[in-house]
Amino acid sequence: IELIHLMATELSSKKLKHLLEPPVYPEVAGRRGDNVTLPCILRSKPSHYKIKWTKLQPEHVGPENIIMISNAHAFKPYGHLGQRASLRKAHTMDASIQLSHLELEDGGTYRCELVNGIEDESVDITLRIEGVVFPYQSKNGRYRFTFREAKEACAEQDGILATYSQLYRAWTEGLDWCNAGWLLDGTVHYPILHPRPVCGGELLPGIRSYGPKDKNHDKFDAFCFTSQNSGSVFYIPGSFSFEQAVHACQRVGAELALVGHLYAAWRFRNYDQCDGGWLRDGSVRFPISNPRERCGGIPEAGVRSFGFPNKTTHLYGAYCYR
Ligand SMILES: *[C@@H]1O[C@H](CO)[C@@H](O)[C@H](O)[C@H]1NC(C)=O
Ligand SMILES: *[C@@H]1O[C@H](CO)[C@@H](O)[C@H](O)[C@H]1NC(C)=O
Repeated sequence: IELIHLMATELSSKKLKHLLEPPVYPEVAGRRGDNVTLPCILRSKPSHYKIKWTKLQPEHVGPENIIMISNAHAFKPYGHLGQRASLRKAHTMDASIQLSHLELEDGGTYRCELVNGIEDESVDITLRIEGVVFPYQSKNGRYRFTFREAKEACAEQDGILATYSQLYRAWTEGLDWCNAGWLLDGTVHYPILHPRPVCGGELLPGIRSYGPKDKNHDKFDAFCFTSQNSGSVFYIPGSFSFEQAVHACQRVGAELALVGHLYAAWRFRNYDQCDGGWLRDGSVRFPISNPRERCGGIPEAGVRSFGFPNKTTHLYGAYCYR
């Protein structure tokens, strides 16, 4: 036991010889569409080596994906990420990778590995996509999505299923939601800031967990994640039915906005509009950045929902996206 303990200590305190450690900064953040650099700096160069960059899957499910392998002469990109990757080469010891046009799925842990056949070394860097988590419910009511349907529902609203760390971060930023939803890893959770008996009892504030659920049979809502987009969201006032709202946007060369578009505008542009408006999924919502008594009366900022009203109701404006 002593020996094993000693070996474990030695391993964990083992200094890297060739790569700079710890990483210059262990987390890099960027929004969808941004370019980022993931740092990896050599402190000494072995005579022969390759640099291999891989992406470890979020939540450690599935295989590692190789992004690129490079030596002094050649650069070989792999897969979807490889097409958007390049080496920065700011100086002779620079093995940092640049990723362009970030996508929602790019978040996760990346590994820079120096391979020289003798002592391979690696450092890990986390790329965090800056974004917003939103709960999403079927128009048919609460808890109607299987895992696959939840995934599709998020994609239809310009998002992806959120990871646990994205939900956790959203909770620290104020998300309190009393309906359980699927996360990317197939677990089901909901975030509670203000404990109440109907939402998991008087436990401490936190993320309530149902653990992993049956992806094919169990049904819940979804927690979706989205980030900035290349368009803009604007409101057209009116007393429209759903069809009239569709046309109101079309007349100005736009489309009804998706739920993800409205959340991104709220999160990144502090969009504030105290009027319910139709969205493309048939729901009616409005974004509030400066909470005030006359706009729903809830003290927290957020995107409010009127659910999915009858599409023939002539009561709401239109949120368009262009
Ligand atoms: C990102 O990088 C691509 C090329 O890799 C370049 O065309 C584009 O202008 C860059 N975008 C920004 C915002 O720097
Ligand atoms: C919506 O309202 C119209 C008119 O009041 C009614 O005919 C229709 O059945 C309603 N649709 C639904 C789905 O409730």
